[in-house]
Amino acid sequence: MAQQATAQIGVTGLAVMGRNLARNLARNGFTVAVHNRSPERTRSLVAEHGGEGTFVASESLADFVATLERPRAVIVMVKAGGPTDAVIDELVPLLEEGDIVVDCGNAHFADTRRREEALRGHGLHFVGTGVSGGEEGALRGPSIMPGGSAESYAKLGPIFEKIAAQVDGTPCCRHIGPDGAGHFVKMVHNGIEYADMQLIAEAYDLLRAGLSASPAEIADIFREWNTGELESFLIEITADVLAHTDAATGRAFVDVVLDQAEQKGTGRWTVQSALDLGIPITGIAEATFARVLSGHADQRAAARRAFADAGEKWQVEERETFIEDVRRALLASKIVAYAQGFDHIRAGSREYDWDIDLGGTATIWRGGCIIRARFLDRIREAYDAQPDLPTLLVAPYFAEAVGAGVPSWRRVVADAARAGVPTPAFSSSLAYFDALRAERLPAALIQGLRDNFGAHTYHRVDRDGSFHTRWAGDRSEVAG
Ligand code: 6PG
Repeated sequence: MAQQATAQIGVTGLAVMGRNLARNLARNGFTVAVHNRSPERTRSLVAEHGGEGTFVASESLADFVATLERPRAVIVMVKAGGPTDAVIDELVPLLEEGDIVVDCGNAHFADTRRREEALRGHGLHFVGTGVSGGEEGALRGPSIMPGGSAESYAKLGPIFEKIAAQVDGTPCCRHIGPDGAGHFVKMVHNGIEYADMQLIAEAYDLLRAGLSASPAEIADIFREWNTGELESFLIEITADVLAHTDAATGRAFVDVVLDQAEQKGTGRWTVQSALDLGIPITGIAEATFARVLSGHADQRAAARRAFADAGEKWQVEERETFIEDVRRALLASKIVAYAQGFDHIRAGSREYDWDIDLGGTATIWRGGCIIRARFLDRIREAYDAQPDLPTLLVAPYFAEAVGAGVPSWRRVVADAARAGVPTPAFSSSLAYFDALRAERLPAALIQGLRDNFGAHTYHRVDRDGSFHTRWAGDRSEVAG
């Protein structure tokens, strides 16, 4: 018997993220077609959560497609890379012109651009969509970053805006821009997530070293910070993790976890893309390298043996002043990370012609996503007030926060360097800030060296044109 096309949207791939997205859609009143390669998952979703809304379950992809109203909207929620391509290849022959394939996984934006172009050739829309918020977000309201055509958003927008997190009555979802724009923005979101987490980890390490405080005491400090400008999901869960005790040993949980940070690759993609676009996202890069370094156990063991006593003893004199210094340094460094991330989005938008609204992007990160934070409102205000802002650092609110934090930032980084406590993200953020505001940079010397060994030429401060000095000859200057 032919299937009735009653479902407004479908989800194929029912591992935890897909399952929770499907439940979120159903809970919000949408009729959801569901499918999974192995049908047990589909059955268990309907058995356990069928009462939450209307699910239309299918065991074959063809039946699943047949249950969807036209234009069909199919969310693919499988592993990025090969598995996504495999599902798309299977889906395409089953779809008709105008239908929409939505990839909600963490795909690389270049793959999304390739897939979008390929499906456009079949008259289909391909919508790479960033979804942030983890399992809980997918179920209760994530931040959603769809790319793809405006036409596809006309169908998807009302659905996604309904299931997204809402902040002050505004959904944390908006159309980011064509083809890979959504996945690009999600990638940078993850890069900022890496920087944010590294900065938090360094703040914790500094407090631990400087105050000889226990993780539980530091949890209280983070809890207190979460009532002010730093208020954010990541600060909140930091307090939670630091306060947790390991049941097996009775020790602080953070002390029984192996200190080697892993990654699935979105931070690495962010750094690779920033290098291609020429955007110095130093905080995100240091955060990514810090994770990588932590995993080099053999090198760490060898260096630990060779340089055991390379740091000075550290005794903080004024506990409250030090805590406030670390807080201000954290805030200033975090602002640098966001400034760099938004520069990166602007550069991507220009390169790929996406016309991304920076303030609008900040708006949809206010809720649902991992980096949700109080100060994202300020980012939106900054770009609303001046869309061509050269850097977020100079917007009034951020200039004030960074300016007020500079002495603390310098004290913290200097003290940490003396004591031998590594602060790659804190110190590189400070160096970025100082480089941006420097009257003259030693880049002039680099130009001189390049001209000396390779006749690469240089520009002068007092005349237009490019020049070369005959270093090996009479040292006269000629036009380059
Ligand atoms: C989100 C997260 C998520 C990401 C994890 C793990 O926005 O919900 O960014 O998409 O996969 O945070 O990332 P790593 O394994 O790379 O740390």
